[in-house]
Amino acid sequence: MSDPLIVRALRGEEVERTPVWFMRQAGRYMAVYRELRSRVSFLDLCRSAELACEVTFQPLDAFRLDAAIVFSDILTVIEAVGREVEFEKGKGPVIHDPVRSAADAKSLRRPDVSETTLRVASDTIRLFRQSRPDMPILGFAGAPFTLLCYLIQGGGSKSFDEVKKLLWTDPQTAQQLLDLLADVVGDHMQAQAEAGAVGVQIFDTWAGILSPEDWERFALPSIQRALARVSGAPTIHYTRDNAPFLDRLHKTGADAFGIDWRVDIGHARAVLGDVPLQGNMDPVALYAPPDEITRRVHRILDAAGPRNHIFNLGHGVLPTTPISGVEAMIEAVHSHRRA
Ligand code: CP3
Repeated sequence: MSDPLIVRALRGEEVERTPVWFMRQAGRYMAVYRELRSRVSFLDLCRSAELACEVTFQPLDAFRLDAAIVFSDILTVIEAVGREVEFEKGKGPVIHDPVRSAADAKSLRRPDVSETTLRVASDTIRLFRQSRPDMPILGFAGAPFTLLCYLIQGGGSKSFDEVKKLLWTDPQTAQQLLDLLADVVGDHMQAQAEAGAVGVQIFDTWAGILSPEDWERFALPSIQRALARVSGAPTIHYTRDNAPFLDRLHKTGADAFGIDWRVDIGHARAVLGDVPLQGNMDPVALYAPPDEITRRVHRILDAAGPRNHIFNLGHGVLPTTPISGVEAMIEAVHSHRRA
């Protein structure tokens, strides 16, 4: 039997059909997830391999997907280095005791990932593989810069002003924090690769707030440092708003690159060359009528070509997304015929 489509696509082989999975494929847009969440908090889902595995399965049971992604969150690393994270309804994540100074930074720890709740992600991957050895599962982690954003700002933000203030006023402390996060993130990704993930994605969601110069100075070296700790599974780099950095993404050392919908995937191919690309439909397009969704999916598949492409959204699926839109997207990937 040949390897799964996503494994072959990540190797750059020509595949008979482009594989499809999508970011946040398990979550609130699904009624089964909301039902479980009415009884269990989000953090408790992330703290139990049995529950996380159950949620990982939910979208696979509902749709014809080519890969699972382990259910967890990027902010588990924040807890592992010593800051509590709360998810307040309607507000997103909150860190009540953000890190804003060299003294704050000293209060953090460098954990052994197998001795923290980070272990749950690799335990979930192992559990998943026991019941579905045929279905590829991806692991993931937040990138050091994106985690730094939450750690310093204390939550989401439009400008991440506190983060930039620390970068400019105390770059040494910012660098120490990035180094610490990179080491923990790298170990966490490696643990998931060793647990059997067929690929590991690094989410640098907020790196797009940086100028190209600052991206090269802060985000890039911390990704390189994290990825240097990962072997045995291909790595996928994702940044929202990465259009200004497309020509530099190869420097990360990642094996594949997520592309958001602001970039034509044909253009990304021309800039990045013959490497696996992942994306890039606008998640809001899933609210469009089925014919329009099909047209958009086929356009992306035609522009990306038969090799080096994994179909995905350009960012996570939104909680109010209609199931019919998700179905139309996946069916369109299956029904696509190459010219
Ligand atoms: O993709 C998947 O299905 C795997 C699970 C996954 C989650 N978060 C579950 C989740 C993944 C890969 C993430 C990544 C993540 N988490 C990112 C990077 C990708 C991105 O979306 O930009 C970021 C920035 C976070 C941090 C985070 N977690 C935020 C900002 C929030 C609150 C906002 C929101 O969407 O609710 C979360 C919570 C979260 N993570 C939920 C889920 C399913 C919702 C929790 C709930 O049930 O209330």
